[in-house]
Amino acid sequence: MRWKRVTNAVLVVAAMLGVATAARAGAQQRDPRATIFVARGCSQCHGVWALGVKAKSDVGPDLTFAYVDVVNRYGTSLEAFLYNPTGVMRLMLASHLHLSSADRDSITHILGRIYRLHRAQLRQEIPPIAKDTPSPD
Ligand code: HEC
Repeated sequence: MRWKRVTNAVLVVAAMLGVATAARAGAQQRDPRATIFVARGCSQCHGVWALGVKAKSDVGPDLTFAYVDVVNRYGTSLEAFLYNPTGVMRLMLASHLHLSSADRDSITHILGRIYRLHRAQLRQEIPPIAKDTPSPD
């Protein structure tokens, strides 16, 4: 447990050092909405699988469902979280990543859209329960 904490701390520091490099690299992405996550350095620590964004290191959670994950985890909206984050993101947004209000709006908007789209898709992919299925418990 203790070692895991230390390892996480090392990963976060290593990722922070890479943020500036990532911002310059401007990797090519398929979905145009992916650009902001790469350009602002988010993809240094977060993947967004719905947009084809791969994380350089999986230090942070995938952001595909962040629109609701943030509400569940922090009891606040994604928009409010981006203005007043906690934990590692507080440190990152205060010192390393500089987001304008337009960036925060775009990120909230994009993550809201992909959440809704993928929730709808996943719902369709879950097979309906067949008549003879035994109870799962
Ligand atoms: C140096 C690594 C790092 C970078 C860069 C980074 N994050 Fe994070 N982020 C984290 C970690 C780690 C967490 C998990 C929460 C914690 O440990 O405090 C997190 C959590 C989050 C969460 C909450 C997600 C959830 O499901 O709980 C959001 C939203 C988020 N980050 C958005 C961003 C955005 C947007 C950017 C780019 C502007 C970004 N992050 C850049 C490390 C990073």
